[in-house]
Amino acid sequence: MTKIATQLVQGTNGTEDDRSGSVVVPLNFSTAFRHPGLGQSTGFDYSRMTTPTRLELEKQLAAIEHGTHAFATSSGMAAIDLVFSTLTATGDHFIASDDLYGGSFRYFDERQERYHVNYDKWNGKNVDDLILLIKPETKLIWLETPSNPTMKIIDIEAVARTVHATRPDILIAVDNTFLTPIYQNPLDDDADIVVHSATKYLGGHNDILAGAVIVKDDDLADKLSFQLTTTGQNLDPFDSWLLIRSLKTLHVRMKYHTENAQYLAHALPEITGVDRVLYAASAA
Ligand SMILES: Cc1ncc(COP(=O)(O)O)c(C=O)c1O
Repeated sequence: MTKIATQLVQGTNGTEDDRSGSVVVPLNFSTAFRHPGLGQSTGFDYSRMTTPTRLELEKQLAAIEHGTHAFATSSGMAAIDLVFSTLTATGDHFIASDDLYGGSFRYFDERQERYHVNYDKWNGKNVDDLILLIKPETKLIWLETPSNPTMKIIDIEAVARTVHATRPDILIAVDNTFLTPIYQNPLDDDADIVVHSATKYLGGHNDILAGAVIVKDDDLADKLSFQLTTTGQNLDPFDSWLLIRSLKTLHVRMKYHTENAQYLAHALPEITGVDRVLYAASAA
C-alpha cells in the first residue's frame, strides 16, 4: 500500500486532463458537459452529479481513509446531514457517544424533535452498556474520538466488532476530524462510515468550509450518492481544488500540530490557575 505521505503529495498528480499533460488536477468550473453522441456520456453530465475536479478530490479522500468511495460536501455539517438524511427515517433510533462537537448535538436534537429520529447517549467507556442501549429500530452508532471538547478516547474496533457480531445491520460512523487519517483510519477498525469536517486539519488554511463522507461498501455508497445528487450539498469546484492542494501538506502540518500540542500539554499545567489539561496523549 502506498505510504500516506506519498499518497498525499502524489496521489492526485497526473490523474486528469489528457490533452495538456497537466501534472496538477485542473480546476474545471463547468456545470454542464457535452455528450459525445446520443445516449452517450463522458461520465460527466451536470455538476450536481459529479464534476471532474471534485471527483479527483473524492478519489484522494477515499484513498487516504482506506475506503472505496468518498463524497465531498459543502461543510462538515453537510457531511453529517448526508449520513443521517440517507440512513434514518421517522421512527428510527441511533446511539451517539456523549461528548461531541456541539453542532452535532444541535443537529441530532433537531432531528429528534422534528422527525422523531430518537437517540440515546453512551458514555464511551463500557461496550456492554452500549449494547444495552440497542433497540430493534437502531440504525446507526455515531462516535467521535477523540471527542470535542473533553478528548475522550473510544476503542472503535471494540465497538464495531461487538456491535457487528450481534447486529451486522447497524452501521458504525466515526467523525475523524481531529485525528485525521494521519493518526486514525476507522474503516480499518471495522467502522462503516468516516466523516470529516475538512474545514479543520484536512483544509488546514482557514479558507475552505468543507466536509467528507467515506465508505467502503458499494450499496452504502449508492445510497449516499443518490441522496447527494438529489440534494446537491456537494463541494464546489474551487473549494474542491483548494482541498486537493491542502491535502498535499497534511502530513507535514500534523507533525507540527502534534509537536505544538505536546509542548502546550506539558507547559500549561505549570501555569497558575490552570487546573486540568485535556490532551488525547495516547492518540498522538
Ligand atoms: C468534530 C467536528 N465535526 C463536525 C464539525 C462541523 O463541521 P463544519 O464546521 O465544517 O460544518 C465540527 C466543527 O467544528 C467539528 O469540530
